[in-house]
Amino acid sequence: MPTITPLDASFGAVVTNIKVADMDAAEWRAVEDAFHEYAALVFPDQHPSEEEQIAFGERFGDIELLRPDPTKKAVPITNLKEDGSLYTKDEFRFKTLRGNEGWHTDSSYMPLAAKASILSAIQVPSKGGETALSDMRDAYDKLDAETRGKIEGLSAYHSLYQSQAKNGFKFKTGEGYGYHNKGAPLRPLIKTHPVTGRKSLFIGRHAYEIPGMPRDEAQALLDDLLDFAVRPPRVYTHQWQPGDIMMWDNRCILHRACPYDHSEIRIMRHVRVAGEPESELVETGRDDLADDFQPSASNR
Ligand code: OGA
Ligand code: MN
Repeated sequence: MPTITPLDASFGAVVTNIKVADMDAAEWRAVEDAFHEYAALVFPDQHPSEEEQIAFGERFGDIELLRPDPTKKAVPITNLKEDGSLYTKDEFRFKTLRGNEGWHTDSSYMPLAAKASILSAIQVPSKGGETALSDMRDAYDKLDAETRGKIEGLSAYHSLYQSQAKNGFKFKTGEGYGYHNKGAPLRPLIKTHPVTGRKSLFIGRHAYEIPGMPRDEAQALLDDLLDFAVRPPRVYTHQWQPGDIMMWDNRCILHRACPYDHSEIRIMRHVRVAGEPESELVETGRDDLADDFQPSASNR
């Protein structure tokens, strides 16, 4: 049976004495229970093949099909191009990688947000390039009563066009996800976990506007919440070794990539488990995303 060792944080555990590619029913039950309890799991020294990582993900649910190739269930998160060169700063993928360095939760800008993300390390830079996670359950628990009262019942729009534009990476027409003009999803700031019933803050860089609040006030509130949330003991920064797997529950954990020297190669593999529609699907809010976030013919 797996050995489950909690991290020195409000969440997370390291799971050893198991191969995720080869679990019996009892082992899988222990892993799934630990996922719900700890919300993030590190599995050192797994070296999964692509098929094994996908099969592990499929135990948790349907796999989300991701850009840049929506026929693939596993996506390389890497600065290395197929021709052996590295992405340069004007390229779309480079901007996606830099965007990942801001605290976020995966696919919150899609109508169906993600359930879990499973990242494995294939090649890591000599320093930097860690992945940091932060526990939004503990953040919610520790909010002062006034803030809690203030955000009760509020929702925010989530948009990747907006979060990338704020980084100076405005999408060009045709880039990004096709649903864009159908509107940004509107998601409650306080999320109740569909399995555990625990409440958490649902924020991050894709959240940007709160109905009924001036935009700058909403941004200041979201910034303050994020600043409060991503602090010890709620943060764990994973120093990757090739072969590690780390997974997290996107419904209650924020994550970000840590910077590294872009002349070094970093190759990760990402399998993303789709949210269950009962809890992660929301109506897209409206069809008039602010003009300053609309794609344009050229990048600014
Ligand atoms: C992602 C992501 C973080 C990392 O793949 O969605 O945010 O450390 N990755 O590469
Ligand atoms: Mn991500």
